[in-house]
Amino acid sequence: MEKQNNGFEMLKEKIKEIINFDPGTYKEKPLKRRLRVRMRATGINTFFEYARYLEDNTEEQKKLADALTINVSKFFRNRDAFETLGKDVVKIFTDTLNIWSAGCASGEEAYTLAIIAMEYGKPGLSISVYGTDIDEMSLNRAKKGIYSAQALVETPSIYIDRYFNKLNGNLYQIKDEVRKLVHFMKVNLSYIPESFQNFNIIVCRNVFIYLSKEFQEKVIKEFYNRLNEGGYLVLGKVETMFGDIKNLFYTFNTKERIYRKV
Ligand SMILES: C[S@@+](CC[C@H](N)C(=O)[O-])C[C@H]1O[C@@H](n2cnc3c(N)ncnc32)[C@H](O)[C@@H]1O
Repeated sequence: MEKQNNGFEMLKEKIKEIINFDPGTYKEKPLKRRLRVRMRATGINTFFEYARYLEDNTEEQKKLADALTINVSKFFRNRDAFETLGKDVVKIFTDTLNIWSAGCASGEEAYTLAIIAMEYGKPGLSISVYGTDIDEMSLNRAKKGIYSAQALVETPSIYIDRYFNKLNGNLYQIKDEVRKLVHFMKVNLSYIPESFQNFNIIVCRNVFIYLSKEFQEKVIKEFYNRLNEGGYLVLGKVETMFGDIKNLFYTFNTKERIYRKV
């Protein structure tokens, strides 16, 4: 065990340097589990040797980046949260509505938010949705806006008919009227650009699960600063507020994890 742990800190440094992802933001157990999966796949026994291997192997760098950023998503994942957001939050805005889907993976969540804003927004509402992620491959898929039927299993058929074009091969393409509202860009939540300000709603779901409490706390404070007064923050089903950050928001809807900036 001691031998296996050999080089863990060094490997973390190497990963930070090479793949531009800070493993220090991860909870230690899941991080080690994911690293060991890659080590087993490459026949390497120690973190130290794996760090060396990673240095010269761009293929493995990609595979590790993929293993560390779990980017499974679906349209209308936990549908009730989106419908509640539409009914109780979106309808409040009369002029402009700026939404940020932080950790948007391949764009399903960002497009879902645009659909909900179109469905529930007041006539004439100016809608912008920013979808950001650390993973470039996912963002490229997001920009294409083409999805398998599997990505739509939780989407009500009325929305599929309204907002998607059916393509050959059981694929669906998001319609231009939705796509033009959504802007994708690469953002690492460790370094949020200064220009990210004045949001009415920030949605960050299923991103924090494997990340450390310190990191969550830091990012949630950043979200607080980048929300307008009275803005809303939405977390995932299994994510909650804790410690000091609880004082920055009051709970707007416990079940759907919707919080409002104090
Ligand atoms: C499981 S997906 C969640 C997708 C979507 N929010 C949902 O709930 O369906 C988690 C996403 O968080 C992204 N992510 C993880 N750490 C990140 C970081 N430090 N900065 C930006 N994105 C990150 C991953 O690349 C991944 O696409």
